[in-house]
Amino acid sequence: MPLQGPAKVAIIGAGYVGASTAFALLFSPIVKEMVLVDINRRRAEGEAMDLAHAATLIRPVKIYAGGPADCAGARIIIFTAGANQQPGETRLDLVHRNTAIVREVLPPLLQYCPDALILMVANPVDVLTYVAWKISGLPENKVLGSGTVLDSARFRHLLSRHLHVDPRNIHAYVIGEHGDTEVPIWSLANVAGVDLEEFYLLDGTTEEETFRTGISRQVREAAYEIIERKGATAYGVALALSRITESILRDEKSVLTVSSVIRGLYGLEGEVAFSLPCLVGSQGREKILAIPLGAGELAALRHSATTLQEIITRLRL
Ligand code: 2OP
Repeated sequence: MPLQGPAKVAIIGAGYVGASTAFALLFSPIVKEMVLVDINRRRAEGEAMDLAHAATLIRPVKIYAGGPADCAGARIIIFTAGANQQPGETRLDLVHRNTAIVREVLPPLLQYCPDALILMVANPVDVLTYVAWKISGLPENKVLGSGTVLDSARFRHLLSRHLHVDPRNIHAYVIGEHGDTEVPIWSLANVAGVDLEEFYLLDGTTEEETFRTGISRQVREAAYEIIERKGATAYGVALALSRITESILRDEKSVLTVSSVIRGLYGLEGEVAFSLPCLVGSQGREKILAIPLGAGELAALRHSATTLQEIITRLRL
């Protein structure tokens, strides 16, 4: 059942990612109202004014800057607030700064919109998804992270360029951490249901020996490459968030590699948050698809999950 009422979204953090996400959501016909919240209120006001003018040229959308009380009625809290990676920093280097921000900013918001779903974006997104789940007391299905939705898009983009096939006809997922230990699932990558080996036969082409390691590295290092050149990434994650938001608001049940709390899968002990392909609908993460993995992929996923678990344990939540 799609959620009822006007589709209002609260975007926390009006930096590059927050503002680009609001801009992307202007093109999503379902969002009717957006509130931008930022520690720098004037920045949020400036972005809201600029976006409101842009919306006039597309469709009527109510956009304004506000504080926690203005988030009342929001169906989704998109949490982008936090420090960004500087050139050379990993996402995990941000953990202490951004955990403190989530702890401070999230509880007052939840007082005003206790029924909202949380969509975590700030990095390290998997750790912060877990932190948000833990401090919110919400059911697991209602706390999602953007996870590796963007990495899966980057993977499909690179495959598309190599195979000369529309990326929408390429199904390929990156799972695990949104970060250095992420795992591209080559064993299931396919073009319209045809696995890569078979596709090469049909296409009369072959794959170079270093192809897979090269593509995997490019996916993993994409954000570093962009940050080195322009200081931050924004458009890719903004459209990933728009995709997840639409799937929730329209109850699309799209398969997306969002991050969420995982326990008892792939022989993992304890709980942790990371990305797996999930059905995303009006209830948030509605189902986890525990896809079959090759032995190497399974070992890599377990390494990714335990890396995150060690960091979560040290946070003593
Ligand atoms: C990205 O992958 C930095 O996590 C951000 O674009």
